[in-house]
Amino acid sequence: MRTLLTGSKGQLARCFRDRLPDNWELIATDSTSLDITDAEAVRNMVQNFQPDAIVNAAAFTAVDKAETHVGTAFAVNATAVHNLASAARA
Ligand SMILES: NC(=O)c1ccc[n+]([C@@H]2O[C@H](COP(=O)([O-])OP(=O)(O)OC[C@H]3O[C@@H](n4cnc5c(N)ncnc54)[C@H](OP(=O)(O)O)[C@@H]3O)[C@@H](O)[C@H]2O)c1
Repeated sequence: MRTLLTGSKGQLARCFRDRLPDNWELIATDSTSLDITDAEAVRNMVQNFQPDAIVNAAAFTAVDKAETHVGTAFAVNATAVHNLASAARA
């Protein structure tokens, strides 16, 4: 199983990695190696790695800041998810 993991430095991603079966191939990306708001970067990563599954553990999780950083919150938690889904479908 080839799995692409986003947001790999976060809490959820670390728990996921700890429980990953040994025979699963993982490409773990963080916000530096793959900014999921960058549609082209997401498309290229998915095309190159050809994962069987994408686990999106990236998120804008600063709930209070979401009220003052609406654009960023929406980009990470909504638009970027569309980027991942579109790349998966392609
Ligand atoms: N923790 C829990 O107990 C729990 C339980 C249920 C559900 N969840 C859900 O799981 C998701 C992740 O939660 P978490 O607790 O693991 O949050 P977290 O520790 O804050 O991790 C989120 C990760 O997302 C990365 N990220 C932010 N913007 C990004 C971008 N544009 N591109 C790529 N990566 C980006 C962050 O990297 P940087 O720090 O470098 O920005 C960070 O490593 C959320 O949707 C949350 O609601 C969490």
